[in-house]
Amino acid sequence: MLDQLKDQPADKILSLMAAFRADPRDGKIDLGVGVYKDPEGRTPVMRAVREAEKRIWEQETTKTYTALAGDPAFSDAMVALVLGDAVPRSRVAAVATPGGTGAVRQGFELIRMMNPDAVVWVPEPTWPNHLSILKHLGMTVKGYRYFDEDTLGVDAEGMLADLAGAKAGDAVLLHGCCHNPSGSDPEAGTWEKVAGLLRERGALPFVDLAYQGFGDGLEADARATRALAAGGECLIAASCSKNFGIYRERTGVLMAVSGDDAVATLAQANLAYLNRQNFSFPPDHGARVVTTVLGDAGLRADWEAELEEIRAGMIGLRQQLAAELRRLTNSDRFDFMLSHKGMFSRLGASPEQVEWMRAEHGIYMVGDSRINVAGLNARTVPVLAKAMVEVGL
Ligand code: LMR
Repeated sequence: MLDQLKDQPADKILSLMAAFRADPRDGKIDLGVGVYKDPEGRTPVMRAVREAEKRIWEQETTKTYTALAGDPAFSDAMVALVLGDAVPRSRVAAVATPGGTGAVRQGFELIRMMNPDAVVWVPEPTWPNHLSILKHLGMTVKGYRYFDEDTLGVDAEGMLADLAGAKAGDAVLLHGCCHNPSGSDPEAGTWEKVAGLLRERGALPFVDLAYQGFGDGLEADARATRALAAGGECLIAASCSKNFGIYRERTGVLMAVSGDDAVATLAQANLAYLNRQNFSFPPDHGARVVTTVLGDAGLRADWEAELEEIRAGMIGLRQQLAAELRRLTNSDRFDFMLSHKGMFSRLGASPEQVEWMRAEHGIYMVGDSRINVAGLNARTVPVLAKAMVEVGL
């Protein structure tokens, strides 16, 4: 029977990771997968995370099951981090999930449970795995204009025009901050219009928030999500992989914001049911680390400080790259990357140009020319800038 299986398409981002590892060249540069790296190319365990793990190891007395929704203290801590006081806690259902991807997957499934005919609107472009999961689930997908390939910024008009076609019973996927893969986020005014439009159309916003703290800061990066949640019903998939640097611990949360407490109770039961169907209890270690860090004033302050260092480092790299490109080209045409947020920027290179930079210079970026800015350092910024100019960008 197993021979009846079909070949599956390789994940483009993860295959790039493998290709980079297999490349024997010394000067190769990894700008592929969205994992933070320090100037030495390491992905460190954050200080507060290490300390929290130590405390957990010393104090934990059991490894018995938590609850289908995970530890309620984790949900409380994450709802507060993401939503602040935008919505009363009693209106938010929340469950721990295996990473942000687990939350995304559960969110799509919840949409399908609510409306098997739902159309899920996704930005063009979006994280390829969104599309892959939706296809796997057999759900109907429609793209909405998002990224303008000419300006390398958000096509706000196109976005609003397309989303005007969303109907009650549809869901609209939005990247809460640091859009993956473009790095381009809507202005505050555009977010307001999107929130108003979705409310008017009766479509359900589904926010993927994977990079809170990497763009303009923890609070600023949550602003759009909070505005959407304050406006009515909303789903939120939040990841702790990047901002806590706990990628392999698979720590995420799915929230469902409801219009009233009774519906929130119903949503909570459905979220727990979904967890039970898919994997039973969610992983606990990463969640416990996050709860410990967020619940201790000293650890939290240290975590926030380190996250700020990481954010500032990525902004510094953007500035160095834009300055080097200005110097090489005598133009400011690459300054668009200064307005991009978080880890990613889409450079606007063709797949052939991307391939040339890989073959000639060992520079690995995703085929759509997405770079992970955190993969750069003071030594490699000039190498990338030179390659970009040589390839004709
Ligand atoms: C990325 O976009 O590179 C990250 O979200 C990692 C992944 O799983 O694709």
